[in-house]
Amino acid sequence: MKLKNKLILLYAVAALAAVLCVGAAVLAGIERLSIRAIERQLLDQSSLAEIYIVQMHLLRDDREGLLSAETARDAIGKLSLVLGHVRLYDTRLELLAAASTDLAKNITEDERLRLLSAAQKGDYAYLARNNIVHFASPVMQDDRILCIVEIIYPASFFRSLISDVVMVFAIGAVLLIVIMTGLSIVIAGKVTRPIRDLAEAAERYANREFRPVVIKGSDELVRLGESFNAMGAQLQEYIQRQKQFVSNVSHELRTPLTAIIGYSEILWDEMKERSDLRKAISHLNCEAKRLAGLVDEVLTLSRMDSGKETLAFSRVDLSGLVAETAESMRLRAEKYGIVLKTFIETGLTIWGDREKLIQVMVNLLDNAFKYSPAHSSVSVRLEREDGHARITVADEGIGIPEADREKVFERFYRADNVRHVPGTGLGLSIVKYIIDAHQGTIRLDRSSGGGTAVEIKLPLI
Ligand SMILES: Nc1ncnc2c1ncn2[C@@H]1O[C@H](COP(=O)(O)OP(=O)(O)OP(=O)(O)O)[C@@H](O)[C@H]1O
Ligand SMILES: [Mg+2]
Repeated sequence: MKLKNKLILLYAVAALAAVLCVGAAVLAGIERLSIRAIERQLLDQSSLAEIYIVQMHLLRDDREGLLSAETARDAIGKLSLVLGHVRLYDTRLELLAAASTDLAKNITEDERLRLLSAAQKGDYAYLARNNIVHFASPVMQDDRILCIVEIIYPASFFRSLISDVVMVFAIGAVLLIVIMTGLSIVIAGKVTRPIRDLAEAAERYANREFRPVVIKGSDELVRLGESFNAMGAQLQEYIQRQKQFVSNVSHELRTPLTAIIGYSEILWDEMKERSDLRKAISHLNCEAKRLAGLVDEVLTLSRMDSGKETLAFSRVDLSGLVAETAESMRLRAEKYGIVLKTFIETGLTIWGDREKLIQVMVNLLDNAFKYSPAHSSVSVRLEREDGHARITVADEGIGIPEADREKVFERFYRADNVRHVPGTGLGLSIVKYIIDAHQGTIRLDRSSGGGTAVEIKLPLI
């Protein structure tokens, strides 16, 4: 997951957790508060009922200690006007009078009995069920229980208050998460942009493109960006100096090498009767030519790097070019004991640099000969395919290990299986440069003969 998305998710989860915690705390608080408020209200109401009942009893009842059913009924008549659903029981828990209501059936008779028994012990008791509170308390007269009053109190108001609060919190939570997500998108974008810029700059540096990265602000990331740019500048300078050095040395080597090749040839001509010296001079000449070849390759690459290697494009008869180059290499193939076969479709023309394309063919054939055993065959094929010319050079040699097929285009890279064959590892990198400059493609594969097949595609005109 991207760093930006991770941050956004983190902010949203944090906002949700905060809302849930605050919501749960507020709800618990409201619940506790409502229970206390109901309790206090019912205690007040029961005290009121007690005062009223005791007064009525003192005024009306002649039988000492007992509340008559008539007094109870009258008391209920008045109390129900103020307190709503009230019921009165005598000390044996028999119902004396009740305001007519269905709410009484909210609890079973057994539950009511337990509730009233608790009140009979002298203290108040209550039972809440289906948002209705049944509150029972003894009515005392001169330290003796006169009767028991049950107040049935619908607490739906508090329930609806709680569900209102839940609703407000739910809406608040949704809004908060939307706002937080919006904000976090902006914040995460700001935080991750410099990191993304730095990552992109690192990728560019890896491709040797040292464009500096610009990071605005005044934090650690800005310092990191500055250090990054300083590092890039140093690296660029170092690479530049290294290239310049290679180019200078190659140039300096060229003149003495040409002299060595020239003089060794003169000496070889002059030493007709000294066959031992001739052998040594011939060896000297060969090595000097090999070294001169290497110097030329290094110089070509150095010119490519500095953009000084320009290609001279013109109309090229590719069929003729491939056939002629293959023919010119036939002698060399025979030297290696290799049979060179050609299958060339005629009339294929491209827009390209003739000399460079010859260089490509020479390099590919040279590799095919070098890395193949004697008596094997190498085939050169040229055919038309979907507006392209396809050149295939296939051999039956040692092949390129699959893991190395991309790496061999890098400079100086040579696969492990060719250590016994001389070479510098520059040929294919030059070939790739030339093919790229022709808007073509090059691909390495395993040939049907178990060796290497190089496939090049170039756009036809
Ligand atoms: N036909 C082939 N068969 C087997 N391996 C090959 C073949 N062509 C290229 N390679 C591998 O690719 C590597 C790079 O090839 P490249 O032509 O760039 O360098 P080289 O042949 O080693 O040296 P030089 O610069 O003299 O051509 C070779 O060293 C070899 O490992
Ligand atoms: Mg080569």
